[in-house]
Amino acid sequence: MDSRAMTAQSPLNLGVLVSGEGSNLQAILDAVSAGTLNARVKVVISNRPGAKALERARAAGVSALTVPHKDFASREAFDAALVSALREADVNWIVLAGFMRVLTPQFLDAYPGRVINIHPSLLPAFPGVDAAKQALDYGVKLTGCTVHFVDHGVDSGRIIAQRAVPIEPADDLSSLAARIHGVEHELFVNVLRAIAAGRVLPFEG
Ligand code: GRF
Repeated sequence: MDSRAMTAQSPLNLGVLVSGEGSNLQAILDAVSAGTLNARVKVVISNRPGAKALERARAAGVSALTVPHKDFASREAFDAALVSALREADVNWIVLAGFMRVLTPQFLDAYPGRVINIHPSLLPAFPGVDAAKQALDYGVKLTGCTVHFVDHGVDSGRIIAQRAVPIEPADDLSSLAARIHGVEHELFVNVLRAIAAGRVLPFEG
């Protein structure tokens, strides 16, 4: 048996990076506390002070840190501080759940093939910010969400899973974003379950 698969049955030790609302984080915390996801959220780190995600982490009894990117002279210095906090928390997978910073190669090298992100479109369509707005503006009738490994590009890493979300004629940004969010919560937790079960292995590019 693949040695990585053998170890995959222990709980995942997750470090979750956030910048805002944290509804995806909440879905993960809820699945962990319901016993339906074999994982522990060891630490939640926000680059934005006051992010609601931090409150959600603390309410679940999870260590919640703020590492403001503005306090650092370079992206490398910021990422080094993140890696240091993540190592301290002894995590083995990094989950980007609405984290609005691009990670440096130095960060990715610290957790090779073990950083995943969720994005609110069917990548490779509509990468970057405002993906739901991009989809509405373009007039596509179907969008969705994607969980992918993080590589050196923006929303460009190997895709793990996707779900489609229809765009209805009456949709505005708020109704579409809400529909995508609901699907994201299920997809993200399902991918983490697959990782915990050894059905998705660290990406070897
Ligand atoms: C999600 O739509 C996710 O796809 C994107 O940022 C949003 C975060 O939402 N990367 P939340 O903070 O989890 O509520």
